[in-house]
Amino acid sequence: MKNRDITLHINGEEYRLNVAVNRTLLDVLRDELGMTETKYGCGTGECGACTVLIEDKAINSCLTLAATMDGKRITTAAGRADFGRLDHIQQAFVDEAAIQCGYCTPGMVLKTASLLAKNPDPSEAEIRHALEGNICRCTGYEKIVKAVKKAAQTMPGRAAAVEPCKEVVQ
Ligand code: FES
Ligand code: FES
Repeated sequence: MKNRDITLHINGEEYRLNVAVNRTLLDVLRDELGMTETKYGCGTGECGACTVLIEDKAINSCLTLAATMDGKRITTAAGRADFGRLDHIQQAFVDEAAIQCGYCTPGMVLKTASLLAKNPDPSEAEIRHALEGNICRCTGYEKIVKAVKKAAQTMPGRAAAVEPCKEVVQ
């Protein structure tokens, strides 16, 4: 099997790797780089547990060959936190108790990030549609939908963007 030299930019760090051309990005993240926050669920694109962001777009890393990702900017769920401090999406999942076993959560958080990057104020139907490819066997989805709504409301910079100017009345 052929190998290829690639450079991946993951969570702000550069990684130079020599990978077999048939290795998935999920395998490289978990087995070579120890980034086990990216989960293996089905391995066939059905569950979304392996979701990562490529630039701002969510993809299934189990269906993506690492060799095709040369030069890409990749974010895993751990990359959303800033020196251990949860970002607003992760915090919303905690606040809404949208986590039970947590296996689906990294994928849910990253799919939410991808949704809010395109649509900062999604309707419930749009949230459910965006999360269609992410399976949760524990929570029943209601709390996850609430968490995504809260993440939209608490998005940094949102208040300034959506609040109308208020006149000060003496
Ligand atoms: S492990 Fe990739 S979609 Fe299930
Ligand atoms: S919290 Fe267990 S799979 Fe979603």
